[in-house]
Amino acid sequence: MRVLFKVYRYQPETREDAYFDSFEFDAEPTDRVLDGLNHIKWHLDGTLTLRRSCQHGICGSDALRINGVNRLACKVLIGDVGSKIKIEPLMGFTVIKDLVVDMDRFFSHYRSVMPYFVNDEAPPDRERLQSVEARDAYDDTTKCILCAACTTSCPSAWSNPDFIGPAAIVQAHRFIFDDRDEGSEERLAALGQRDGVWRCRTVFNCTRACPKEIQITKAIGEVKKAIVADRS
Ligand code: SF4
Ligand code: F3S
Ligand code: FES
Repeated sequence: MRVLFKVYRYQPETREDAYFDSFEFDAEPTDRVLDGLNHIKWHLDGTLTLRRSCQHGICGSDALRINGVNRLACKVLIGDVGSKIKIEPLMGFTVIKDLVVDMDRFFSHYRSVMPYFVNDEAPPDRERLQSVEARDAYDDTTKCILCAACTTSCPSAWSNPDFIGPAAIVQAHRFIFDDRDEGSEERLAALGQRDGVWRCRTVFNCTRACPKEIQITKAIGEVKKAIVADRS
């Protein structure tokens, strides 16, 4: 099939304003949108700048707005989005170049929830055992690949960049509901602050955007309940 990629460009070293470039070429319906972007980069315009790595939905580096919807370019087939494909960087972040955005604030929010296991007790001889039910409590949020598709689809995050955002809450959830972890009090205190979970207005855009199908709004609700329980 013949495809037309309309790609957002911002090349501050040569031009002040952002613009769109069009690229027309042949592709298979079973090619992924990332294959199309790689074709442009490798054969049509080597200056096109984008992040990607694993090409298999694991690293989370190629989340982009594809025809207006946040998706991973490596998980979307060209045949499923049609012959005219508009590619833009994620919303709400400063664009550094073309499709590459500045994610410093995103990762600063991520670090603020202590996204690591906390337990000062001496480790047992073997692994720290856990029941199947206890593992289930946070199974969904272990799937997060930090792609930022959720946070950059959230109106609360667009209007307030200090909002910690759904991705950081998902990461916190993974540890708060792990019954072997002992850092929840500190995490819940951080998430209960002014720009923490209460900035979530239950819009559900995040849940719709997640390429790993994590029930993000549900997880945020569970964290809200845990904060209330912790305070009472
Ligand atoms: Fe991406 Fe989903 Fe993790 Fe958000 S929760 S960063 S959308 S994988
Ligand atoms: Fe935003 Fe998701 Fe809440 S879109 S408002 S974090 S439910
Ligand atoms: Fe790694 Fe798409 S390139 S998730």
